[in-house]
Amino acid sequence: MVVGNFQAWQKVLSDAKRLESASLTSLFAEDEFRAEKMTKLVGDGKTEILVDYSKQVIDQEALQNLLALATEARVLERFGEMCDGKPVNSTENQPALHTALRADSKTSIQVDGKNVVAQVHDELAKVKKFVDAIRDQKRFKYLVNIGIGGSDLGPRLIHDVLSSVGTTDFRCFFVANIDSSEINAVLAQCTPEETLFVVCSKSFGTAETLANAQVAKKWLARGMNLDLASQELAEHFVVVTANPAKAKDSGVVAANTFEIWPWVGGRYSIASAMSLLPMIAFGFAAFEEFLSGMRSIDEQMRSTKPEENTVLILGLIDALNFGAARYPSLAVLPYVSALRLLPNYLQQLVMESNGKSVRLDGSEVSVKTSPVVWGGVGTNSQHAFMQMLHQGTQVAAVDFIGFARVPNADAEMHDQLTANMLAQASVLAFGRALQGSRNDALSNHRKMAGNRPSTVLMAVELGPRALGAIVAIYEHRVFVHGVVAQINSFDQWGVELGKVLAGEISAQVGGHESSFSTSHDSSTRGLMSWYRSSRKPNK
Ligand code: F6P
Repeated sequence: MVVGNFQAWQKVLSDAKRLESASLTSLFAEDEFRAEKMTKLVGDGKTEILVDYSKQVIDQEALQNLLALATEARVLERFGEMCDGKPVNSTENQPALHTALRADSKTSIQVDGKNVVAQVHDELAKVKKFVDAIRDQKRFKYLVNIGIGGSDLGPRLIHDVLSSVGTTDFRCFFVANIDSSEINAVLAQCTPEETLFVVCSKSFGTAETLANAQVAKKWLARGMNLDLASQELAEHFVVVTANPAKAKDSGVVAANTFEIWPWVGGRYSIASAMSLLPMIAFGFAAFEEFLSGMRSIDEQMRSTKPEENTVLILGLIDALNFGAARYPSLAVLPYVSALRLLPNYLQQLVMESNGKSVRLDGSEVSVKTSPVVWGGVGTNSQHAFMQMLHQGTQVAAVDFIGFARVPNADAEMHDQLTANMLAQASVLAFGRALQGSRNDALSNHRKMAGNRPSTVLMAVELGPRALGAIVAIYEHRVFVHGVVAQINSFDQWGVELGKVLAGEISAQVGGHESSFSTSHDSSTRGLMSWYRSSRKPNK
């Protein structure tokens, strides 16, 4: 029987079965060099991430079988094809060229007869000029990013990290939700004359972003007593999109528009002009650092042979852990507050990419795809959900992310922070055996089973370069799992129907029909009736 189309999955799945009875304690006891063999440095000389996957419940035999799967699935060849602009996003007939956003300017990648790297660098030059001008002008004090999903989570994540290692004269805000309390709370802290709105939307068709942009526009016009179509008002708006024509038609008049391209997925657009707000707030140089951190991982992934390719191996371990249904979820635990948004960011990257059930050829997948991604910062998580990770019946795979140095951090407190991370990873792996032969109720409650897998990623210093490298590592892990599961990691058809239905429902609950269309199920109709009758306060 062939599982998926790749024979090698057979052995991988039987490894998963075989390793059910394996224990990390005995795996470490059997090989004194285990930690050494499974701890690697990734990145170039300037960007170094230490990756320790020795506490993953895996042995050399399983690793060899995963590498055989990578060979059969041609993972590194496919990666090369993706980086060279092949239309790997087959259902949208598009390349997925997020790596081109940070490619060296000497590189040439042809798409539809154009060198996209030249396009990228031309746009980056325009962005840099704009960023420098806004920073020099000192006209704006408030920067407000309006965008959602990939047009929000990326710039927010970069902003958070840069805020923790540097300072800015700008007050920065992010508005995503269609819950108007979000934009209202932000506008209440801004003055119209000194506010610049960065409206980010690849499609420029996203309801939340369009609604929030309209609120911003009216607020500005009212506050500055300007006509909605005035040029002066347009100077308070800058648009980032792959659809400038649609942006124009949307009525969001902006003095400046920067492009991304159809071959950049929203959740892969962090390395583009989508991160304009943090660039303005902290300067273009910090963003260039971020790009070079990403590039160092791209180049290493592409040029390193499989058995030494740590990022490939991390992706293959994901395929074993999640594809073979060993663990339902991945908990991402950054041990630095500046990365508090990383789990959110990775939820979109991993779950919107690999949350699929159909292979490229349209047939049903026969291995599991995306895990549930969740998480939180350490040590807060220790006082929240670590109890379950240690003693619960649901075992999650865990990624710990730490830093040897965090600028401005208290050294002693940082030692404690890192010590907690290392302790958690060790306790998850090795637990604590019961004392002596006692098997009474109390000691059972205190039993720590261990054998709970984790990978530790540690960067030398928290900053844009390390962040770039970490994000690229996850992008490529997603790619690897997607290839061996034979799914398209670059489309997201599943998000459309809910948007269409929401449009219908909001039109109807806002309307005056006495009854709602029977196209809705009775539960939804009932909820719509209750909502409509309850939303207007009684006179
Ligand atoms: O609905 C999902 C999604 O399309 C994401 O893929 C995307 O990042 C987000 O919405 C925002 O889309 P846009 O940038 O086109 O406004």
